[in-house]
Amino acid sequence: MGHFDKHVFFCTNQREDGSDCCGNHGAQRARDYVKNKVKELGLSSHQNRIRINSAGCLDRCDEGPVIVVYPEGIWYTYVDESDLDEIIEQHLKNGLIVERLKVPARGTPVDTPPLRDDPSAV
Ligand code: FES
Repeated sequence: MGHFDKHVFFCTNQREDGSDCCGNHGAQRARDYVKNKVKELGLSSHQNRIRINSAGCLDRCDEGPVIVVYPEGIWYTYVDESDLDEIIEQHLKNGLIVERLKVPARGTPVDTPPLRDDPSAV
């Protein structure tokens, strides 16, 4: 088991040149919201050990704003606090993946073009 039961990284990158980044989508406010909520709920205690951290660019800017939850390595995007509440309640508290907010991992079949020799490929 890792040092934390769940370790959540929020990309809070803000680009100075105005180009698209998670910071343009309220990432810092979202990170602060989740950090406070996790603390209020007692999830960051020694027993639950859920840690919320800021991160620089996670290289998924076109899919952002993004967070990643370890140890599962599940990527999410979000629009508002209700999305963040759902991630807290379902994933952080109950260990259930929130499919509707999930960003597919790179290299999964969703992003990978079908192989030429695959007879099921269209
Ligand atoms: S700015 Fe957030 S992933 Fe790049």
